[in-house]
Amino acid sequence: MNKDFPPYLHEAYRATVLRAPRRPLIQVPKTLSEVTGPGPTVSAAASPDTDLTRNGGAGGEAVGERIIVTGRVIDDDGNPVPDTLLEIWQANAAGRYRHRRDQHHAPLDPNFLGFGTCLTDENGLYRFTTVRPGAYPWENHPNAWRPAHIHFSLLGPAWTSRLVTQMYFPGDPLQELDPIFNSVPTDAARERLIARYAHDVTQPAWALGFRFDIVLRGSEATPFESAEPSRAAKR
Ligand SMILES: [Fe+2]
Repeated sequence: MNKDFPPYLHEAYRATVLRAPRRPLIQVPKTLSEVTGPGPTVSAAASPDTDLTRNGGAGGEAVGERIIVTGRVIDDDGNPVPDTLLEIWQANAAGRYRHRRDQHHAPLDPNFLGFGTCLTDENGLYRFTTVRPGAYPWENHPNAWRPAHIHFSLLGPAWTSRLVTQMYFPGDPLQELDPIFNSVPTDAARERLIARYAHDVTQPAWALGFRFDIVLRGSEATPFESAEPSRAAKR
């Protein structure tokens, strides 16, 4: 496993104790079906829904600090990865998910569903409009609060180019206390999980901008990994 990736078992993050594999992993050989599908066919089936401030279904606008989150999806060589399906989900501005298992004593927002989808364009660019999520408590340890974060799922050119991660915000004091953030083992890798404030993305009198670039591993993103590592990613 990449040295920047969190280990399956990180005891401070209690759930990993229960779910981490106890036996050595078995390497499954990749066949054509793993490395060639689904490509943009499945990606194109998802209708983009990039404005989370208006997708709650109540016809109004979500409460909170309006933000724009944008960035590029690139491979190891810095090439853009177009037609990547991005899905994000997040708590509302009060720190609550619209999910039956979230019983945090904080208000739901009828104008905030908290879920968005987007396809990267030919330059690997994505862009969402949303609100800054609130911190929320969880039961990992006494007085545990998650730092503000947005969950990301990416599905690139092949089934094996799936990435699930979380984006954090700069200057959040809860990060150093958070076992999930700190399960990422190196300073450099943790830094890459923190979006940058982007004044060129900020829109006057409208929304603050943040930039968050994501690297899909070249060796996972292409079926021609030994010959031409980035051919498929350039599609
Ligand atoms: Fe979360």
